[in-house]
Amino acid sequence: MTATRPTPIRLYVNIDHVATIRQARRGSEPDPVAAARWCEDAGADGITAHLREDRRHIQDADVEAIAAQVRTVFNFEMAATDAMVALAVRLRPHQVTLVPERREEVTTEGGLDVARDPRALASSIERLRAAGIRVALFIDPDPSAVAASRALGAQAIELHTGTYAHHPGEGPALHALRHAARLGHDAGLAVHAGHGLTVANVAPVTAIPEVEELNIGHHLVSRAIAVGLPEAVREMRAAMHAARTAGR
Ligand code: PXP
Repeated sequence: MTATRPTPIRLYVNIDHVATIRQARRGSEPDPVAAARWCEDAGADGITAHLREDRRHIQDADVEAIAAQVRTVFNFEMAATDAMVALAVRLRPHQVTLVPERREEVTTEGGLDVARDPRALASSIERLRAAGIRVALFIDPDPSAVAASRALGAQAIELHTGTYAHHPGEGPALHALRHAARLGHDAGLAVHAGHGLTVANVAPVTAIPEVEELNIGHHLVSRAIAVGLPEAVREMRAAMHAARTAGR
């Protein structure tokens, strides 16, 4: 009898915050596209970038360059607007993760309100999928949001780990993530997670067996100031691998 091996878990690096630093001076450095290459060289499985309506960090030219140049896969984070869907259909990223957007927020503060305009959301998902793009919905770890994601036609859910990141360790936030991951998997959805994850808090999320992809940005770019981006990516991969293998 062969021993059961833990399923692999992917690390997608969100490079928005490299662009945030560049936009502080509206100049050309640091370059998020170069950063994406360094992350890939250090073992990232994919590159995530969010083109916000207010263009506060990633710009249109960045998205064009990333889509053309990634050697792994591009996970394009965006709001479900007609203009963004049209852009994605033209660029054909591997995956689109649909996120809510509020202009005044500091970062994506909550999951998509999947009940708000389901017909419009379902139509965006259908257009993206018809173009061969895998579609994930960024949702709170809430059973009704998981069920709605399935009904809307998404292939994957990304569970918002923000509440857990504020209250790490064993507790209601982690239990909610575990429960939502199980429900999503049982409904045939791929399960991703992200927001506020760090080397210090990633282990319990990585240990949820249904979770197959993490999207991590801020901590890696912060850590890069001390050790460089490639080393920050390697540290995170090591932390993820250790937790997955130990099943903790
Ligand atoms: N996933 C989604 C959908 C996000 O919007 C963000 C933040 O941009 C992240 C993951 C990454 O969060 P953080 O930068 O806190 O690691």
